[in-house]
Amino acid sequence: MDETYVFSHRHLLGLKDYSCEDILHVLEQAEKFLEILNRPIPKVPTLRDKTIVNLFYEDSTRTRISFELAQKRMGADVVNFSSSSSSVQKGESLKDTIRNIESMKIDMVVVRHKSPGAAHFISRCVDAAILNAGDGAHEHPTQALLDMFSIRQKMGRLTGLKIVIIGDITHSRVVRSNIIGLNRLGVEVRVCGPRTMMPLFIEELGVTVSYNLEECLEWCDMAMALRIQMERQGGGLFPSQREYHERFGIKKRHLLQFPKFTIMHPGPINRGVELESEVADSPRAIILNQVTNGLAVRMAVLYLLSGGKRV
Ligand code: NCD
Repeated sequence: MDETYVFSHRHLLGLKDYSCEDILHVLEQAEKFLEILNRPIPKVPTLRDKTIVNLFYEDSTRTRISFELAQKRMGADVVNFSSSSSSVQKGESLKDTIRNIESMKIDMVVVRHKSPGAAHFISRCVDAAILNAGDGAHEHPTQALLDMFSIRQKMGRLTGLKIVIIGDITHSRVVRSNIIGLNRLGVEVRVCGPRTMMPLFIEELGVTVSYNLEECLEWCDMAMALRIQMERQGGGLFPSQREYHERFGIKKRHLLQFPKFTIMHPGPINRGVELESEVADSPRAIILNQVTNGLAVRMAVLYLLSGGKRV
């Protein structure tokens, strides 16, 4: 990396704003945090003087626990907010909620929201550093960063690799952030899924499109399966989950038929839909490594956005 490189971002709103150098820098820092996580006492005082709010307006298991654990491993004061038990239910607007929270002297806000652009909006309302933990079908940058970290960990490199991302391409924020990041790092990206879940002009993002799963599994080094985003669809985009599985689900027989590819999934998995259960649990899957790496990657992002002092 260029000796004069300086990480200069205040926020992580999306990977669209991050260059190849920025992404590689986050991954380098994450390597250090992964090493810290493997120590007998996996804690550092890096964020001892910081207060962070996790603002979750949408359901989450992995991302929410991962962010909270990352913050606690780094000694931050952490406050959790979930819209279902807050004054949002009494009609308070996003802007009012966030400005009230900031009045309590918050340094960083992690936000997940169903509206695309919510993280950008918040970054314009307050001074705190904003981390996007998923905004509608727009971006999910820390997921893509942990995916890239996991691919590099498994394969030893990113440039020149081939990845197919399979499923609900239209409604997935994971695919959007991954396409941006993987393209910047020189990975060849193909998307595969039902025509009704394939956005028009998706090729303009720098991917190729296929409707043939088996052809993709033969071609790729990595196969990332996505959950069908029922909560973001109007319905009627595919006949049944069984039929989806028939055409686009990765099955045990594919592991024998195509011996090369590694399986990824951001979770939550719908077993028997996008992956046959034996595939999800097979040694060819790195799904749980993705979760472990997510913690190190989020620690790296929190560290860099807090000003990058005191590792
Ligand atoms: C993803 C999300 O919320 O966008 N999950 C996650 O963060 N691990 C994917 C999904 O919900 O299908």
